[in-house]
Amino acid sequence: MPEPTTATGGLLAAIAGTGRDAVRGGYSRPVFSTAERDLVSWYEAELTARGLEPEIDRNGIVWAWWNPAGLPLEGAVVTGSHLDSVPGGGAFDGPLGLASALRALDLLRGRGVEPARPLGLAVFPEEEGSRFGVACLGSRLLTGAVTAERALNLTDPDGNTFADVARRAGLDPAGFGRDEEALARIGTFVELHVEQGRGLVDLDAPVAVASSILGHGRWRFSVHGQGNHAGTTLLDDRRDPLLAASRVVVAVREVAAANPGARATVGRLQPVPGGTNVIASRVDLWLDVRHPDDAVTAAVVAEISRRAVELAAGEGCTVQVREESLSPTVDFDPALARRLGATLGGVPALATGAGHDAGVLAAHVPTAMLFTRNPTGVSHSPEEFCTDDDAEAGSVALADVLADLLR
Ligand code: GLV
Ligand code: MN
Ligand code: MN
Repeated sequence: MPEPTTATGGLLAAIAGTGRDAVRGGYSRPVFSTAERDLVSWYEAELTARGLEPEIDRNGIVWAWWNPAGLPLEGAVVTGSHLDSVPGGGAFDGPLGLASALRALDLLRGRGVEPARPLGLAVFPEEEGSRFGVACLGSRLLTGAVTAERALNLTDPDGNTFADVARRAGLDPAGFGRDEEALARIGTFVELHVEQGRGLVDLDAPVAVASSILGHGRWRFSVHGQGNHAGTTLLDDRRDPLLAASRVVVAVREVAAANPGARATVGRLQPVPGGTNVIASRVDLWLDVRHPDDAVTAAVVAEISRRAVELAAGEGCTVQVREESLSPTVDFDPALARRLGATLGGVPALATGAGHDAGVLAAHVPTAMLFTRNPTGVSHSPEEFCTDDDAEAGSVALADVLADLLR
C-alpha cells in the first residue's frame, strides 16, 4: 500500500486493513460486526487523542463534542457519517466523512477558530441497512422515522434480532427510540461523503454541495412454490419459485426502462433452502427502486408487484410483497446549500441517487452535504476511490464550511 500523502489520507490508511472482504475484495463491515466495532474503537481513540470524550447514546450513535467555551449543546453544528459498509464495499463510503471530520477539527484548531457554538462529531450505525434491511436505521431511530419496536424485531440473515445483537454490543434495547434531547442538540447537520457517481469527474472539480437525494425504497418479494426433487420431478410438474423469481428480475428491468429516470435493482436473491439438487420452496428477492418523483416510485413498485403476481401464477407460485423502507426525495435546505456554495467560492451543486443519514435528518433540522470526487465514479464496490489530494481538499472544504457555521 502506498504511503499516504495527506493527513486525511493518513487517517484512512490506519483502517485500510480492517474488515477486508476475502471473496469480493473491498470491505464487509456490517453493523455490530467485529470489523465495524473495531472501526468505532479506532474512531473513539482518534477523538480521545484530540481531547474529546466520545459517548454512545441509547440508539447506538457515537457523539463527541468540541466545545472549548463549555456552551449549552442545544443548536450545535454537527458533522458525521457512518462506519458500516455494504458487503464488499469501498473504503470511502462512510469512513471518508468521518476522517474528514477529524481532519477538519484539526484544521479549525490550527486556524485558531473559537467556536461560538459547539461542534459535534457523530457516527450513525447501520446506515447501509446491509445487516438488518432498513437503511439509516440509527438516524431513523433518533428521529422516530422507525419505531423502536419495529427496529428491535428486525433480523439479520442469520436470524439474530436487532435487539439481541444490540444487547451483545452493550446497548440496552429498552433505550431505543426517538431522542428529543439528542435531536435538539443538532442545530445544523453537515455530512461529507465520497461522491458515488461521475458528477465531479465530468465537472473536473474536487468538491460539490449536494442539492437533493433521489427518493428510494426497498421491498421484499417472497415467491412461494413447491420444494421438490431435481431428478424425479418432471418439468411440467414443477412449481419452481426460482424460475418465477428470475422472470420477476427481468420484469424489474423492463418496468424501470419504461419509466424515464427510474432505477430499479435486484441485488440480493435467496433461494430457500438453496441446494443444487433441490427445487426451492421459496425465493426471497429484494427490490430497490429510486426516482425523483415519489409518485413514480410508487407506480413502478405497483407495476412490478402486479407483474410479479402474474409471472408467479404462470409458474404455479404465489408472491408476497412487503415494504421494508421508504425515503421520499429530499431537497436540501436551499439557503444552507447556497451558504455552503458561497463559502466555498461557488463549487458545483450535485444531486445524488444514494441515500444518507443526512437525508433522514433533513426532515428535522437544516441539513447539507458535501461530496468529494470519486475518480472511478463507482461505489458499493471495491473500485470506489478518492485520491489523497481530493480527500484533503474535501476536509479543507468541510473545515471552511464548519468555520462559517460555527461563527
Ligand atoms: C446507500 O448508500 C444507498 O444509497 O442505498
Ligand atoms: Mn454512505
Ligand atoms: Mn453506501
